[in-house]
Formats: sequence, C-alpha cells, structure tokens
Amino acid sequence: MAARAHTSAVPSSNKHLLRWVEKMADLTRPDAIHWVDGSQREYDRLCALLEQRGTFIRLNKELWPGCYYARSDPRDVARVEERTFICSLSRDSAGPTNNWADPYEMRRKLKSLFQGCMRGRTMYVLPFCMGPLDSPASRIGVQLTDSPYVVVSMRIMARIGRAVFAEIDKDVKRVVPCMHSVGAPLERGQADVPWPCNDTKYIVHFPETREIWSYGSGYGGNALLGKKCFALRIASNMARDEGWMAEHMLILGLESPAGEKTYLAAAFPSACGKTNLAMLVPPKALKGWKVWTVGDDIAWIRPDEKGQLRAINPETGFFGVAPGTSARTNPNAMATLARNTIFTNVALTPEGGVWWEGMTDTAPAQCLDWQGRIWTPEIARKTGASAAHPNGRFTAPAAQCPSIDPAWQDPEGVPLSAIVFGGRRSVTMPLIYQAFNWSAGVYMGATMASETTAAAAGATGKLRRDPMAMLPFCGYHMGDYFRHWIKMQRRLNATPRVFHVNWFRKDEEGNFIWPGFSENFRILKWIVDRVRGRAQGKETPIGWTPYYKDIDWTGLDFSEEQFTRIQAVDRAAWRTEVIGHEELFFDLHDHLPPEMIYERELLICRL
Ligand code: OXD
Ligand code: MN
Repeated sequence: MAARAHTSAVPSSNKHLLRWVEKMADLTRPDAIHWVDGSQREYDRLCALLEQRGTFIRLNKELWPGCYYARSDPRDVARVEERTFICSLSRDSAGPTNNWADPYEMRRKLKSLFQGCMRGRTMYVLPFCMGPLDSPASRIGVQLTDSPYVVVSMRIMARIGRAVFAEIDKDVKRVVPCMHSVGAPLERGQADVPWPCNDTKYIVHFPETREIWSYGSGYGGNALLGKKCFALRIASNMARDEGWMAEHMLILGLESPAGEKTYLAAAFPSACGKTNLAMLVPPKALKGWKVWTVGDDIAWIRPDEKGQLRAINPETGFFGVAPGTSARTNPNAMATLARNTIFTNVALTPEGGVWWEGMTDTAPAQCLDWQGRIWTPEIARKTGASAAHPNGRFTAPAAQCPSIDPAWQDPEGVPLSAIVFGGRRSVTMPLIYQAFNWSAGVYMGATMASETTAAAAGATGKLRRDPMAMLPFCGYHMGDYFRHWIKMQRRLNATPRVFHVNWFRKDEEGNFIWPGFSENFRILKWIVDRVRGRAQGKETPIGWTPYYKDIDWTGLDFSEEQFTRIQAVDRAAWRTEVIGHEELFFDLHDHLPPEMIYERELLICRL
C-alpha cells in the first residue's frame, strides 16, 4: 500500500478487513486513513473539524446544547431513487420495481468513479452494528467514507466503533462492505466547500455478494449506508434467505392502565407520520394509557422458538423530517431533538437556534433559510419560499426520547401482536379496517398506496402504489417478496392481526375529516382490543371495521355520523381501486404468489 498517514491506531486484527481497507485505499487514494473508535472525544473533534470547514455551525449552547446545524448543497437534498440500483446477477431477481444494472458493467463503472475519488481527503473506516451488539438478530457492516458528516451522523444512528471492531475480530458474523464517497477529490491547494458532492450519483447494491457502493451524495439515506441501503435493501435479501423480515416499519408498545403491554409494527411510506405515530402521546382524557417507542423507521422481525414474531429496531437514532414537527404534533420528538442533535436543511435563527415550518404558530421575524438566504414571513408570502427544505431533517439519539421503551435494546426484540399498513389517501380508504386473515393482510400491504411526499426527489402529491412501504427499499423482486410474506406465516404459532389505517381522508371541500395526531391513539386502542379478542368487528367487503361504540371517544367530539362518513366504503371507488392493484400485479405477474390472485378475486366478488 502507498504510504498513507493513519490518524488513529488500527483497532482490528481481522485480516480480511485490513486487506479490504488497503485495497480500497489503493483505489480511492485518500491522504489519510482514520479508524473510527466511536468515542465522544472523536465525535467532538470531528464536529470541530466540520465547524472549521463550514459544514457545521454550532448552535447556541444555552438553547440547543450539543447541537449542530448543516446546510447541504441544494442539489443534494433527498434520496435519489432513479440513481439507486440493484445489481443482482439476473435482471429477473431484481424485478420490475427496481433499477437493475448488469453487475459486471456496474463494477467497471464504479471502479472508474472511485479511482482517486478520495484524493485530498481522509478515508474513515467506520464499523457499525445494526441491532444490539449482543443480539442474534444484529448484523455488521463497515463503511469506508470520505465524509466526516456521515461519521458523526452514523454515531447517532447506529452502534459504531471499538466494540464493533471487537465483534468483527471474532469473525463470527459476515461483514457487509459499504463503500461511500461524496465524489469530490481535492487537488493540492484546492479549497474545500462546506458540502462536497457530485452531480453524478450512484447508490448501488450487490445483493448476492451483500455489498453497497454509494457515490456522489452526502445526504441521508444515500450516505448513511446502515439505514436504507443496509437495513432494508441488503437486509431484505438476507431476511428472505434466512427466514426473517426486514421492514420499513415503526415499532411501538401500548400499555394499558393495568400494565398490559401490546406491541405493533406499522409500515407507512416516507414522510407519512411514522415518527409521530411511534412517539404518540395518548389523549389526556384516556388516563393511564401510555405509548412506548421502540423504533420509528425500520423493523427487523423474526419468529422466536415458540413461533411468536419478535421485532428489533436496528437503529439507535431518529433521522426525522423536521417540518411539521412541533410541541403540539410530536412533543416527544421535540424533547428528543432538544440536545445532541444534528439539523440539516432547516432554518437558522438570529439567536443561533433552528426553526422550520410548523414548529411554532408564529414564524421568526427573520432567519436564514436552508440555503443561507435571508427569509422573513413577508418574503415567504411574496415568493412562496419556505425557510426549511420540506425534507429538512433532525438526526437525534433515540435514547433521549422520553417515550423510549425500556425494552428497546432487548437483544431478543419485543413480541409483535399486530401489523399496521397505511398511507396518505384523500379519498377511498377508510380510517381503519382489519384484514380477514394473514393472506388478505399480505394483499392489503401489497396493494397499499400513498400520495407522494418530499422524502424522495420528484413530484409530490401523486398516488403511487408502495407495497408495504417498501417500493424504494425492497432489494429483490417484489413478487418474491410477497411470497416471502405469505410463507412467513407457516413458521408462526400466533399470527399477528393485520390492519390498514388512513389518517388523511378529506371531505368534498378538501378538509381533513380526522383530527389525527394524539387522537390516532383511539384507533390503536381498538387494534389492541381486536388483537386481544375484546372488540367485535363489523364485516364489510374490504375487511372488519369497528362499531362506533367500540372506539373510546372519551374527551373527543366525533359523532356517529362523522364516523360513518370516514368509514364509508364506496363500492364504485373501490372497483376503480382494484384496477390500480391490477396494474401493479400485471408488472409482477410471473412472480406473484397465487394467494394474491385469489385475494383479488375474493375482493372483487365481495364488491
Ligand atoms: C426515511 C425515508 O428517511 O423513508 O426514513 O425516506
Ligand atoms: Mn423511512
């Protein structure tokens, strides 16, 4: 290997790792290599370095202790789905919902992109563990990255550092290699920019060899490779092969006043309120009930030896959408992000604090927007410019969440009793209904749809089919993924009940019918009652729905007439809905499990 400064001791003796790091350094040509120990001291030093470079601004220490503020390049603000590739050996294994590219050609392409791409920069060797270190369910990766922003963000989002190197040295678990570069080498004497990135972006997965290569972006899911790339796209492949499930789901526990605890996992597409639901505060009138947070984005789920599904949250932090988050909509998130948090692409106030649309009723008189331009409410009125980018984010430690479940790091995971699907649907979808059985539940998840948001680059507000909220994240053929879901039930003694919710139904004038937020708890409570056999369901063509009397309305004025309206199943609209299902199934037909066809036929008959 060429002489390269190591800015830290090499804390691993694993030969495969050492050889790989050497090979990748030879390819990317960094000036120095830093082996990440994961300590607070190292974190503080990297944050200071990011401040020096202008990537970070330290927020007011009194108001926002331990918090930093970053603005990305305006061309690097969200996940780039059209630049995300699944490079399986055959196109057929990736399926029609993924961008497939030939693995041999892609390797050639990546080799040329990564050639010398870290010149003038330090390469960080960042070991991370998804899931508790002592959990049989956890999985390990090592990310090589030239972005210190990624290193400090990953310290919040995952277990990193020395303890993970020690795990790797045991050589028991296979390590997923993750290459990442912002794609902005520095020539000698060339000044750096606060947010280096490249207009050419590639987010690439090799499912068979379990590898990730990400080039050109420093933002969120494109760059924090433990999250979407590993914990969903690669992990979905591992899960299929090993008999478990890697899902885009929050996990929460509901505790009754008597101390009875029921856990559920819920899948919603990006930016549909998963974080809010995971941290829900029950309405004050429902005394003694509590919601506990296990995770807000990803669930790894497996049957235990008794045939009970158990779920872990592989992450340790929340990478949440900031706009819309407030003391009213999500007080637990506001408490979580009050310290030791990294904010990206929100607004900076003159006091050295942060602000975003929806955070307070009144906007600050003036602030700097997410691009560093002066922003006032007056400017916003005239130009429509928002202070924060709609996909502006907070990266905050889960341990700081007031509602974090005492069992959130249990190596065995928490027992799951229900699975909930949902999306943003202004029409057609009732507030709540329950699938008749597991295969109808899989059909329900497979056909779910949502109006698009800003979490991914592209148009917002369009209806898109997003099976199990995994459309951008399933690392193999979607039809095979449905089959895997169907098959999972055979290993279970207790099948979780499956539900669909829609907090976003609107009336003819375009107003939301349901108050949402805390009031959603009433619906979760009905789910618990159904799971525990305490509430009857009313049969409809699409599934079981609640009787008005079975929802606890204490403290909320919501009439039976309003409830009937929000629960309405319009048969004509549903027949159109089923045509939408067929469009998706048409693309997947040769891999579709027969259960999906039966369920569709049954649904059509009932309608
Ligand atoms: C996320 C997403 O960041 O789903 O969680 O886009
Ligand atoms: Mn997500």
